[in-house]
Amino acid sequence: MRRKIVAGNWKMNLDKVSSQQLIRDIEDRKSDAEIELMVFPPFVFIDGVADEAKQVRVGAQDFYFENQGAFTGEVSVGQLKSVGASIALIGHSERRELFGETNVVLKKKVDAALASAFDFIFCCGEPLNIRKTGREFDYVKVQLEESLFHLTPEQMSNTIIAYEPIWAIGTGETATSQQAEDMHAAIRSWISEKYDSNVAEKVAILYGGSCKPDNAKELFACKNVDGGLIGGAALKADDFIAIANSF
Ligand code: 13P
Repeated sequence: MRRKIVAGNWKMNLDKVSSQQLIRDIEDRKSDAEIELMVFPPFVFIDGVADEAKQVRVGAQDFYFENQGAFTGEVSVGQLKSVGASIALIGHSERRELFGETNVVLKKKVDAALASAFDFIFCCGEPLNIRKTGREFDYVKVQLEESLFHLTPEQMSNTIIAYEPIWAIGTGETATSQQAEDMHAAIRSWISEKYDSNVAEKVAILYGGSCKPDNAKELFACKNVDGGLIGGAALKADDFIAIANSF
C-alpha cells in the first residue's frame, strides 16, 4: 500500500499569530490517521508552528545546499532541523521561475538533504507553452533525470515527488484527473525503467495546482495519485482537512 500524503504549502502568507492559529485549527480537526499531513510555513514561522504541531509534520519551502557560512539570506538543512522541520520542498516552480533555480542547483539540494538524512518533496511540472506544444512528458522527464535519477534505489524508494503543472497553480484551472493520472503514470513508469517496479511502487507522487475540496476526490481516486501539494486551499483549516478527507 502506497503512502497517502496531503501537504500544505503556505507560500509567503500568514504572520506569526495566524500561522500558529492555523496549525492549531488543523490539529483540532479530525482526519484519517492513515493520511500523512504536512505543512510548509515561511522560514520565520517554522519554529512557532512546530511548537504547536502534534500529528502534522512541519517542513520548509526551500533551503540552501551548503551547511553554514557566508551565504547571506540563506538557511541550511541543519538550521531547519534545529527549529523542528523534518522535511522540505525542493524545486517548487516558483523557485525555478522567479529565483532561477536550475536542475543542476536542485540536484545539489537533493544531495544536501540526503547527506543530512532530511526528507524532501521534489517538485516538477511544465509551463503552459510546453503543454500547448505537447512536450510536457519530455520536459518533466528531464527535470527528474537531471536532479533525481542519480539516487540509489533505496533513496528513490523513500522519495516523494509532486507534479505541479505551472499553468494550474493559483489559476483555478486544475489539470483534469486524466491529465494528472497520465503524467503520474508516466513518472512511475520512468522510475520503473530506471530502477524497477518495486521502487516505482514505493514512490509517493502528489498532484498540485488548484486542488480544492470539490475536486480532490476525483484527483485522489486516480491510480497513480497519492495525495496533494496544496497552496491556496491549505490556508483554511476546514478546506485543508476536507481535502485530506477526500481519499
Ligand atoms: P494552488 O493550490 O494555490 O494552485 O498552489 C499549488 C502549489 O503551488 C502548491 O505548492
